[in-house]
Amino acid sequence: MDKSGRQVELMDPKLSRKRFLDTLMGAGGLGVISVIAYPLLKFVNPPARSSESSEWVDAGPAEEIQTGGFKTIMHASGIPLVLVRRSEDEFIALEKKCPHLGCMVELEQGEMFCPCHGAKFTLDGTRITGPSPRDLKRYKVEVRPDGHVFVGKEVG
Ligand code: FES
Repeated sequence: MDKSGRQVELMDPKLSRKRFLDTLMGAGGLGVISVIAYPLLKFVNPPARSSESSEWVDAGPAEEIQTGGFKTIMHASGIPLVLVRRSEDEFIALEKKCPHLGCMVELEQGEMFCPCHGAKFTLDGTRITGPSPRDLKRYKVEVRPDGHVFVGKEVG
């Protein structure tokens, strides 16, 4: 009892230390979980890379690619693209990153094919089938007077 007559409950110092250690362990556990979870979340949902670069990339001489042929190039933003020559004077540049989960699509038998879950796209990037929610991204292409093909920013 204290001076006013109220019953005072004495706290066991061991119990207090145990509660303190339990709280500390809980906080440490949350820290460990967040250290593991954050990179996993970033892997599953990566931050969008900017494809808004205004820089043009020299993809080399147009004559290097025969009609129906293609080459892989790196966009100024660091995104890999497939540059396809559809006709004598028509080129198209498509992002290789599949809109579904980001695997790299490949050009096979006149279509863009994603090996991860089977999405297919036409050579202009239009989705044909598979789990992709949208078409492949296209990039501006121009053939300059010196005969080189340049790839610019994303179309649309
Ligand atoms: S990542 Fe391309 S279909 Fe799933």
